[in-house]
Amino acid sequence: MGEALKGLKRTVMCGELRENSIGNTITAMGWVQKKRNLGGLVFVDLRDRTGLLQVVFGEEINEDAFTKADTVKSEYCIAVTGKIVKREAPNENMPTGMVELLGENIKILSESETPPIYIKENLDAGENIRLKYRYLDLRRPDMQKIFMIRHKTAKVIRDFLDEKGFLEIETPILGKSTPEGARDYLVPSRNFNGKFYALPQSPQLLKQLLMVSGFDKYFQIAKCFRDEDLRANRQPEFTQVDMELSFVEEDDVILLNEELIKKVFKEIAGVDVKTPIERMPYKTAMEKYGSDKPDLRFGMEINDLSEVVKDTEFKVFKDTLENGGSVRAIKAEGCGSMGRKQIDKLGDFVKTFKAKGLAWIAVKENEIKSPIAKFFTEEQLKSIVTAIDAKVNDLILIVADKDNIVFKSLGELRLHLAKEMELLKNNKEFRFVWVTEFPLLSYNEEEKRFQAEHHPFTMPMDEDIKYLESDPGRVRAKAYDIVLNGEELGGGSIRIHETDLQEKMLKVLGFTKERAWNSFGFLLEAFNYGPPPHGGLAYGFDRLTMFLASTENIKDVIAFPKNQNAACVMTEAPNVVDDKQLDELGISVLKEEN
Ligand code: AMO
Ligand code: AMP
Repeated sequence: MGEALKGLKRTVMCGELRENSIGNTITAMGWVQKKRNLGGLVFVDLRDRTGLLQVVFGEEINEDAFTKADTVKSEYCIAVTGKIVKREAPNENMPTGMVELLGENIKILSESETPPIYIKENLDAGENIRLKYRYLDLRRPDMQKIFMIRHKTAKVIRDFLDEKGFLEIETPILGKSTPEGARDYLVPSRNFNGKFYALPQSPQLLKQLLMVSGFDKYFQIAKCFRDEDLRANRQPEFTQVDMELSFVEEDDVILLNEELIKKVFKEIAGVDVKTPIERMPYKTAMEKYGSDKPDLRFGMEINDLSEVVKDTEFKVFKDTLENGGSVRAIKAEGCGSMGRKQIDKLGDFVKTFKAKGLAWIAVKENEIKSPIAKFFTEEQLKSIVTAIDAKVNDLILIVADKDNIVFKSLGELRLHLAKEMELLKNNKEFRFVWVTEFPLLSYNEEEKRFQAEHHPFTMPMDEDIKYLESDPGRVRAKAYDIVLNGEELGGGSIRIHETDLQEKMLKVLGFTKERAWNSFGFLLEAFNYGPPPHGGLAYGFDRLTMFLASTENIKDVIAFPKNQNAACVMTEAPNVVDDKQLDELGISVLKEEN
């Protein structure tokens, strides 16, 4: 059993000690990183979340302490009291390397078995074992650093918004399921068997209602829940920095957030973000980068070749253009001598995004090489090369299809090639861009209906409102995303604040008046009582922390994350519950899955 503290107080943190503490008698508490017995001396590296401190126990300093210290092993939790002295052999690699602690007294507070993972930086262990023993994984200094960054980031944001007059207000976790979002996580009700709460996908409607209440400027660091397929930068349960403001237009929200971004990146990462941040209409983002979250750290932009190739005999291009599609290309600089096999692999790559093929043109010193050369006159080939400004040893990669397929496949190919060509190796840039003028709606081919591109509460652009019913697809929204290095960091919009327009919008989305009121009646009704014009934005706080902590894995920035199956490996959630619990909820399970 471990020894009790019995009034012993910690007086310092290990990592803080420097030469100015020499001569002080201190008490430090923490974990044994390493112990070495060099005959008459026992050395212990003592660790807490601030760093390491070398402790020396000697037979001549205190024999009892020396004997006890010799029994400790890695990860024992101990308290040591003694004097800070100058280290005879300073260690330049350790912040506390100029000093050491002469251990006069040691308490073993608790023992430790050999941990299943090493407690060290840059651990090369499987994810499963790290998640199972997450509390040990979180003991590792690089993980602790991330959570210090996360904490500090939240604090900088809170302080900034507080200074700007925002109020932090919590909204419920047990809410109502409303259609139009991702899949909900549901919680069965005991009081109303057969009825369910839904966990919030975001505080969207409630923050709008807080504006109706007159709170004027709201923010919340809010937990959100979405039962989606998980990818590298998604978790089923994640955190938003969510805000909403009254009496504002797009520019007000954007400019305030540029100030916030500038402050966060300066204070946390020492990075100067240049403002104003570039703005790019959605249409431009799609046409040049094939994505609504363009990575602007490198070029390789998409070029429209439709005009240049319109008189070609190549059937694929001709048919595509006749059917309203387009022919577009990117240029891989210096890849003109890429082998057939490699190019075929690129062809396979674009096929995963529904492209039917990938045509290519390699520009050589004295010739132009291409499998489709036979369909073009020399003049036509030259005009393609000129149109995309290709130089000797460049490779032109062309996709012909419907616009959405061309954009997706060339956009993805652009990112893929950047990786293969190592264009971003050692790139430390933070390249922000606001993507604006999103389409309000997108057409869902499977369901044969329009759906909201952002959410159904987004305000159409003034000049496009007139098309809302006649030509919904062309209506642009007062919506904006903040994109960083090709990732969507946050998104928001100005909202509809009139019952009429909101009803009209829901109608375009296929809601009958009755269903609209059943689903969103509380909002529609609230708009009858003098709602202010309002708008806001939410950041993915986990994603923001990923950038600030330089990690590409969202799990690294969440203390107890879920795995790819939305399960917690450590607690084994989700799990079965007692029959009694199910009875109370009026639930019987039809099919149990492991
Ligand atoms: P949106 O759905 O775009 O907007 O979400 C805002 C931001 O949250 C982050 N995010 C996620 N992060 C981790 N895991 C997920 N599963 C996940 N889903 C989203 C993204 C995203 O940009 N209510 C609106 C905001 C508003 O209009 O004010 C909303 O939720 O970084
Ligand atoms: P084919 O005539 O089908 O053998 O195609 C000749 C070349 O055109 C091959 O390199 C194909 O990959 C390419 N190709 C086929 N369909 C398309 C398309 N929709 N867009 C671009 N290239 C294509």
